[in-house]
Amino acid sequence: MKFNISLLAVLGAALTTVAQDIDAAEVKTAFDTAKIPTALSIKFNPTALLQVTLPQQNGSPVILKAGTRIPRASTVGPPQYKVNGTTSTGPFVIVMVDLDAPTTQSPTWSPIRHYLGGGWSATNAANPGVLSTTTAAVTAWFQPAPSGTDPHRYVFFLYNQSTQFPTQRLVTSGTSITNWNLSSFAQQVGLGDPLAGTFMLVGPQ
Ligand SMILES: *[C@@H]1O[C@H](CO)[C@@H](O)[C@H](O)[C@H]1NC(C)=O
Ligand SMILES: *[C@@H]1O[C@H](CO)[C@@H](O)[C@H](O)[C@H]1NC(C)=O
Ligand SMILES: *[C@@H]1O[C@H](CO)[C@@H](O)[C@H](O)[C@H]1NC(C)=O
Repeated sequence: MKFNISLLAVLGAALTTVAQDIDAAEVKTAFDTAKIPTALSIKFNPTALLQVTLPQQNGSPVILKAGTRIPRASTVGPPQYKVNGTTSTGPFVIVMVDLDAPTTQSPTWSPIRHYLGGGWSATNAANPGVLSTTTAAVTAWFQPAPSGTDPHRYVFFLYNQSTQFPTQRLVTSGTSITNWNLSSFAQQVGLGDPLAGTFMLVGPQ
């Protein structure tokens, strides 16, 4: 029994590593099935793919596929990002939020802002689509630390950066990360709708 469980864990980890988003329509379906646009009052009709890679201290990096369960220990990050399906090289804004805090049954603290940063650009000719930034994050990345028993939805979005974003003061490093209205923020700083995104499910283990 013990052997079977660890074998499944190994197979699961291997599959997680190779799976990735390959079709924006499939990503949209996964978001709709997980009720993410409704939870955030946003429109999500992706035209590109956001590849989110979680580097691992031991073993291959984990590439997200929308809706995949990822062991918490694999989510240390910070993630690496790549965009596929747009001719724009940026700059882009990247956001990550937890929709299920403190628990999926009663997410009274959500959305929690786990990352907000701009200046992401795909300007490395040798690695098309690979995003990098020299701009300090508004909210620096912090690892999922879900409570409750059910996995939380941790959602990444890629936006075209607006001209207002670099000077916005609605959200600063001092702004509470809880109950963040992403939809309202995106409207107020002219981000429009996300052009890409993906998400992972992460539980306490
Ligand atoms: C971009 O996505 C397409 C599928 O939509 C895939 O075939 C292609 O390999 C991807 N390109 C890169 C550079 O990841
Ligand atoms: C967030 O803001 C949008 C307007 O952009 C609004 O429709 C929505 O009700 C707000 N959500 C919450 C939970 O206040
Ligand atoms: C993002 O910007 C690109 C290039 O300027 C444009 O083609 C695209 O429609 C924009 N996407 C969204 C969702 O605003």
